[in-house]
Amino acid sequence: MVSKQVPFTKEEITGLIEKYPTPFHVYDEKAIIENAMKLRKAFSIVNGFKEYFAVKALPNPYIMKLLKNEGFGSDCSSLPELLLSEKAGIVGENIMFSSNDTPAEEFIKARELGAIINLDDLSHIEFLEESAGLPEIVCCRYNPGPLKEGNAIIGNPEEAKYGFTREQLFTGYRMMKEKGVKRFGLHTMVASNELDPAYFIETAKILFELIAELSKELDIKFEFVNLGGGIGIPYRPEQEQVPYDVIAKGVAEAYDETIRANGLHPLKIFLECGRVITGPYGYLVSSVRHMKHIYKDYVGLDACMANLMRPALYGAYHHITVLGKEHEDHEMLYDVTGSLCENNDKFAIDRLLPEVERGDILVIHDAGAHGHAMGFNYNGKLRSAEFLLRPDGSFVQIRRAETIEDYFATLDFEGLAGFE
Ligand SMILES: Cc1ncc(COP(=O)(O)O)c(C=O)c1O
Repeated sequence: MVSKQVPFTKEEITGLIEKYPTPFHVYDEKAIIENAMKLRKAFSIVNGFKEYFAVKALPNPYIMKLLKNEGFGSDCSSLPELLLSEKAGIVGENIMFSSNDTPAEEFIKARELGAIINLDDLSHIEFLEESAGLPEIVCCRYNPGPLKEGNAIIGNPEEAKYGFTREQLFTGYRMMKEKGVKRFGLHTMVASNELDPAYFIETAKILFELIAELSKELDIKFEFVNLGGGIGIPYRPEQEQVPYDVIAKGVAEAYDETIRANGLHPLKIFLECGRVITGPYGYLVSSVRHMKHIYKDYVGLDACMANLMRPALYGAYHHITVLGKEHEDHEMLYDVTGSLCENNDKFAIDRLLPEVERGDILVIHDAGAHGHAMGFNYNGKLRSAEFLLRPDGSFVQIRRAETIEDYFATLDFEGLAGFE
């Protein structure tokens, strides 16, 4: 039986539940830091490496601060994410601002923080100039269209709304050069949850070649390339971790072949991963409220897709451990369901588990990225708490659970009195 480990015991979690009811997320600090160090070490062979953590994956300032201590910046996609980054002490060019359909106030805040702005469209050059002024450094997001295959989550680049076409990049950088921009970056993000290291090496090659062409034709010097995020994680126990060193080595070789060979060294290499940074080190902890036996057998949890949407949204596999029953035979076939009035609110379908009873604690693995962050309030579900498991074994609450007062805070009940 293939399995996954949890970094806490049933007794430790039961102690936490006495004070804070389930559901909640737990993030393992030690494992996050060890992984961050491993990524940094592997990529130390490429020029000027920096990882900008994709804040959208786990927008919590405690996590961001831990990663800042490991030399990571933040990749922000909205005004609240820029503000979170500022609160975590990550400012200036330690922020990459990659947004969509960006309003003026977001560009203004990004400029105020000194963030690197990554433009999503040709028309945004003039919009940025008018709304916040053009900075000295600008990056553009490239959509390779038919040149690159996408994957299940991100789709086919040709069908994706993101980025500049190849031709638009030539127009855009020329325009920016004429307008006085001095420092340039190039970015793409064409995969999500991709487990094949070759994919990222190939992406780097495409970008390096494009940089060589752009530099030559426009006589501009690129300062960095951002290879995006999208490194996948082994959600299934039988899958393997993506070897960082294989990607780093492939990128370094491609760099020598294209960047050094064309006299374009130094060019800094950036990543903006989210999932692979925190995903495997986050756990959704939930209690069994009811068992239900109709045409199938159901384990009904107090969590729901508002706590972790990936299984319902993508049919994604998330491993499940029944705490304290890890070593029992997994011979019972269950659908593990959430409490939402939505039939696709299922964490697992036809999953073999040990016999489950009311009150059992289930841990849903790999919930540390695009998990809590994707939560919502449909069905009046309240957003749950987040805890950090510190290296000394203590739990620190890094986000409290929402209350009904929070949920009602945007409604004006007093106005109801005079409303007929
Ligand atoms: C622009 C951008 N960068 C980075 C990421 C992070 O992706 P991942 O968590 O798969 O690494 C995303 C994810 O949606 C994204 O849209």
